[in-house]
Amino acid sequence: MHHDTLRAVRWQDNQLCLIDQRKLPAEYQVINLNTAAAVALAIKDMVVRGAPAIGVTAAYGVVLAAQAAYQQNPAHWKTLIQTDLQLLANARPTAVNLHWALAQMQAQFAEIHDDPVPHLLAVARAIHQADIAANHKMGELGAALLPENCRVLTHCNTGSLATGGYGTALGVIRRGYELGKIRQVYADETRPWLQGARLTAWELVQDHIPVTLLADCAAAALMRQGKVDWVIVGADRITANGDTANKIGTYSLAVLARQHGVKFMVVAPTSTIDMQLATGDAIEIEERGAEEVLNLGGQAIAAHGAQAWNPVFDVTPAELIDALVTERGVCAPPNVANLLGLWNI
Ligand code: MRU
Repeated sequence: MHHDTLRAVRWQDNQLCLIDQRKLPAEYQVINLNTAAAVALAIKDMVVRGAPAIGVTAAYGVVLAAQAAYQQNPAHWKTLIQTDLQLLANARPTAVNLHWALAQMQAQFAEIHDDPVPHLLAVARAIHQADIAANHKMGELGAALLPENCRVLTHCNTGSLATGGYGTALGVIRRGYELGKIRQVYADETRPWLQGARLTAWELVQDHIPVTLLADCAAAALMRQGKVDWVIVGADRITANGDTANKIGTYSLAVLARQHGVKFMVVAPTSTIDMQLATGDAIEIEERGAEEVLNLGGQAIAAHGAQAWNPVFDVTPAELIDALVTERGVCAPPNVANLLGLWNI
């Protein structure tokens, strides 16, 4: 049985093709993008989301930006491209993979002396492939930490839809399931955007991995009943001390896990680690519109006139994390020394 069939991001026929994640699971629609401005808007509007998928998408966005700038003026494309690079950089603030991917692409510019498109496309494809390879590696490393007959709880969507392919936390779950070590996968529905109910449940059903959904507020009762062995989540930005920004609700799961003696694993590629920031207090947390909380599927669900607070990420302190799994190795526990050790610095 093949447990990995989806790809959220593809480059085909000289354009960027994205599964529209706003429409899942009701509708499977792929949209094709030809300009960097359209790519930036797709990231902002969450056609594509998930930190590594945003990074891969932005890399292809740079290819489209370079194509337009070179067509406009081959001698000055490196200057002309700057506006599009800013648009891409500003699309969403929290996931550092976006900035990491833009920096990787920009680092190539000095070496390019003619048409930039073939060179940059090759680099974007390499970033995409490296992300998938990193996910497979993390799948192995993370699954090795799980006991036999393990019951896991995950949050948000960290799968093929959120990455170049295969997934981070969901990659560990894919591999653990394939190895026969996981007997139960629980997924939080993940209010307000419902990445768990709409995306994780859909992705696991597509890939024949049984999944049980729960309302976010049911996690405490599930843990109290002794039904969870590991909580496994992804990350949007990890600071030098191991503090981890991830989907809103992750922090409460970490507190609950510690209270109930449940292990807590963060799975993220090193492109999600921001060694420039000392602690999680320095991470910019994106706030999105109140309508995401006040409405559901286009229907108003709150009292007319109510306001809403909608931070879309929170920060889990490193001391609540038992293991940080990266493609370069496992930090258990995550702290400055162990994180520096990933690069042997
Ligand atoms: O707002 P989103 O859907 O982009 O947030 C995504 C998450 O928080 C994921 O859990 C995290 O990015 C890890 S993605 C592998």
